[in-house]
Amino acid sequence: MEYATLNNGIKIPYIGLGVFRLTDDKIAYDTVRMALDVGYRHIDTAMIYENEEAVGRAIRDSGVPREEIFLTTKLWNDDIRKNNVQGAFESSLQRLGTEYVDLYLVHWPVKGKYVSVWKEMEKIYAGGKTRAIGVSNYLEHHLEELLKTASIVPAVDQIELHPYLNQEKLVNYLHKKNIVPEAWSPFCAKKNNLLEEPILKKIADKYSKTPAQVVLRWDIQRGIVVIPKSSNLLRQKENLDIFDFKLSEEDMKRINSLNRDQRVGSHPDEITF
Ligand SMILES: NC(=O)c1ccc[n+]([C@@H]2O[C@H](COP(=O)([O-])OP(=O)(O)OC[C@H]3O[C@@H](n4cnc5c(N)ncnc54)[C@H](OP(=O)(O)O)[C@@H]3O)[C@@H](O)[C@H]2O)c1
Repeated sequence: MEYATLNNGIKIPYIGLGVFRLTDDKIAYDTVRMALDVGYRHIDTAMIYENEEAVGRAIRDSGVPREEIFLTTKLWNDDIRKNNVQGAFESSLQRLGTEYVDLYLVHWPVKGKYVSVWKEMEKIYAGGKTRAIGVSNYLEHHLEELLKTASIVPAVDQIELHPYLNQEKLVNYLHKKNIVPEAWSPFCAKKNNLLEEPILKKIADKYSKTPAQVVLRWDIQRGIVVIPKSSNLLRQKENLDIFDFKLSEEDMKRINSLNRDQRVGSHPDEITF
């Protein structure tokens, strides 16, 4: 495993396991246990995924020391609107059954709240029960506003990012601000046939890798942490096995050229939830 370093010195594994849509307790538990067994040390959940309890139990039962695991959860929009930031954080810790998380993220930039919520996040960080704080789905204009009054620069911005939405401008901005970009839905959540893309298949053949591995490698070579979801043992292993090859500059450019600015999720300025 290789690590990125957050702006407060904390290390984050470049590959994590995403657990969105795993609302069935048993499937969520088994998925996380399997992942920890095959070597994952970074799990990305959220209050809204309704699996914090199962994720926490899987971590405790795994036998992997808690300090070896990088655990992220997120503050949901309703709690932001209700000004229930501290309460939501404590409830997440309780469900996860852990004394601390490694990263706590504001899940979406809620209109009228995306700056003020950061003051509450800074208080949570000062409380010492999260090792880092960050945001998710913040665009450059949200961050510019937030940074005007922030005492702490967000450690991470977790954004939708894949070859059909390469986010080049936002990623450059984040690197400049010392905010680590994290890619969600790196495979387009299996929509739009991304992994059937001929260019990706061709590049994959060249390196004796799969299109999925090429996509993940493209992320980490751009300095982007990535959190693919898989509940399948072989695909979990496949997604970790990306540290023994390097894409050429030319192949990186070919993958960048697939960009269509096409989202599978909501535009952060147009959320209806
Ligand atoms: N911050 C946010 O707003 C936000 C939004 C969405 C997602 N996320 C995070 O990002 C994580 C990942 O995104 P996602 O779950 O939407 O989608 P994703 O990781 O792009 O795609 C997951 C899909 O790809 C399949 N898959 C996994 N590895 C594969 C491989 N090597 N080859 C072929 N297919 C493969 C999985 O099936 P199997 O399980 O059968 O392998 C699953 O159907 C989420 O779980 C969540 O943690 C965050």
